[in-house]
Amino acid sequence: MKGRFISLEGGEGSGKSTCLAYIQSWLENKSIPYLTTREPGGTSLAEDIRQLVLNDREESVHDLTELLLVFASRAQHINEKIKPALDSGLCVVSDRFIDSSFVYQGVARGGDMDKIQTLSDWVVKECLPDRTILLDVPVEIGLQRVQSRQQSDRLDKESVEFHEKVRQGFLERAYKDKGRFSIVDASQSIKAVLKDIDIALNAAFHLDKY
Ligand code: TMP
Repeated sequence: MKGRFISLEGGEGSGKSTCLAYIQSWLENKSIPYLTTREPGGTSLAEDIRQLVLNDREESVHDLTELLLVFASRAQHINEKIKPALDSGLCVVSDRFIDSSFVYQGVARGGDMDKIQTLSDWVVKECLPDRTILLDVPVEIGLQRVQSRQQSDRLDKESVEFHEKVRQGFLERAYKDKGRFSIVDASQSIKAVLKDIDIALNAAFHLDKY
């Protein structure tokens, strides 16, 4: 039987790492075999592409280059890691996936949504997440959390307007596809956030029905 595919999405400083650690312990407690991964990245080559996307550089990065790089990384990630893992029955949990491209390269950068959809149809095909957990946090709070980190990447440093577009972009996608998305208010206390993650995971594994 194919494993379940879960993605975790959210703006900068939404607390994905804490939630990912919780999801891992949840899966271990339920004895569900799993693999965690991230985008851009997830394989050696895809991680090299991640550096190309996120590192600061003198030369400006054209929006189309950025878009094609994240999809190149995803092609490698899906075919070399995600699909084989799902086919072998592992649950795959990815820190970011296709929704980030629609939101960052599409909504926030103003990229052509039809072209992104075409790339998605070509690269991702049916390898879509069964459940996507969106950690929603007001931009101010998210950016404060990121500023307290030692390192920030090229995208962290985008304008507040850019990050507002990211937040709205994710929320719109989530409202349009409520069957797949669970929206979690990530500005709550950690305890409350993890409780909501628990509910989302139970829904992902249909454990809420029993
Ligand atoms: P993060 O995983 O630490 O949040 O950093 C990944 C960054 O890459 C984040 O700013 C979002 C960005 N990104 C895109 O712009 N497009 C994509 O398709 C993906 C997966 C990530």
